[in-house]
Amino acid sequence: MKIVTILGARPQFIKAGTISREIERCRELGHALDEVIVHTGQHYDANMSGVFFDELQIPRPDHHLGIGGMSHGEMTGQMIGRIAEVLSAERPEWVLVYGDTNSTLAGAIAASKMLIPIAHVEAGLRSFNMSMPEEVNRILTDRISSLLFCPTPNAVVNLRKEGFGNWKSGARLLLSGDVMLDGATFYKQLAKRPLDLHVDEHEFVLCTLHRAENTDDPKRLSGIVNALKEIARHRAVVLPLHPRTRKAICDARLDLAPIVAIEPIGYLSMIWLLDNCRLVVTDSGGLQKEAFFFRKPCLTLRDETEWVELVDYRFNVLAGADPDHILQSYFGFQFALNWEALDYGGGKASERIVGALITSSGAT
Ligand code: UD1
Repeated sequence: MKIVTILGARPQFIKAGTISREIERCRELGHALDEVIVHTGQHYDANMSGVFFDELQIPRPDHHLGIGGMSHGEMTGQMIGRIAEVLSAERPEWVLVYGDTNSTLAGAIAASKMLIPIAHVEAGLRSFNMSMPEEVNRILTDRISSLLFCPTPNAVVNLRKEGFGNWKSGARLLLSGDVMLDGATFYKQLAKRPLDLHVDEHEFVLCTLHRAENTDDPKRLSGIVNALKEIARHRAVVLPLHPRTRKAICDARLDLAPIVAIEPIGYLSMIWLLDNCRLVVTDSGGLQKEAFFFRKPCLTLRDETEWVELVDYRFNVLAGADPDHILQSYFGFQFALNWEALDYGGGKASERIVGALITSSGAT
């Protein structure tokens, strides 16, 4: 059985790496599996892309499309055309897509036009905020997928409410668990301290900020930055800067001191920061869960989250973007500490996903 994997953005390299390792393990067990990896090029800076392939033992992409650094519409359109060319040549049994990026949607649309079944990892997540490009990408991708791998029971509930399992005959839902937990568990042993970072272990706040909704409105961005600067007066704040955020901060002429702003970092360094920080402040979807995997409380710089169970159990607080609210949330945060309350699939998600692909195609 041939699978074409589509990826293009940072978190997808990590998730796909975990699945590729499981595909390799199944191949060694005698299953007839062949994976072809297509990198759209959405993330292209060395520290947003190359470093992940170098350090995470991910197979190199078989096709690199070099499509990045343009408007979302143009990027998505170009990707659909180029992915379709690859699919015509490769003729896979499955197209595997991850998450909610423009690369995810482009891969799914290209496959659907050629009637190639789509398997979606991280299906069923919803923020219920249609102004986020990610929300549109994930809803459309789910709608045209045949195998929907849900990371949480809540994701299954979301899909059932949308009619999956009823009218959408043929589409299968599977509560697979979260591949990011498999990845975090595997890579934890390889974590490495970022060079030249001088902070006291367990005493710093790890922060990331990249969502368009936070970076593209200078007023909102400056409110968040001011709150982070206030927090940084009490405890060091380490902020690896996404290129989008760096540009927005420059354009708005914001001064970051005393925040410790650093270049984007590889995953092994991120794992070290997660393991050694005191608390996480982020607008990233992935980092909210990774904070939980590493037993760190999290403040989320958004008004809603796809990972509602983290908020329900009080591992995560939605702090929004208003500086007063962020500071109130930071200084008044009462954390739940029952870290056993959620399991995100217990680190077996990749096994379930690859197992389901094998069973669905009969590639035993
Ligand atoms: C994308 C995903 C988001 C995911 C995130 C992970 C979409 C709509 N969003 O957001 O869901 O959480 O990736 O990081 O797909 N840029 C560079 N160098 C790079 C990559 C990007 O300079 O290596 C620039 C781009 O040219 C663009 C900006 O950064 O101006 C934003 O990049 P883009 O690919 O639009 O989306 P992300 O914000 O990274």
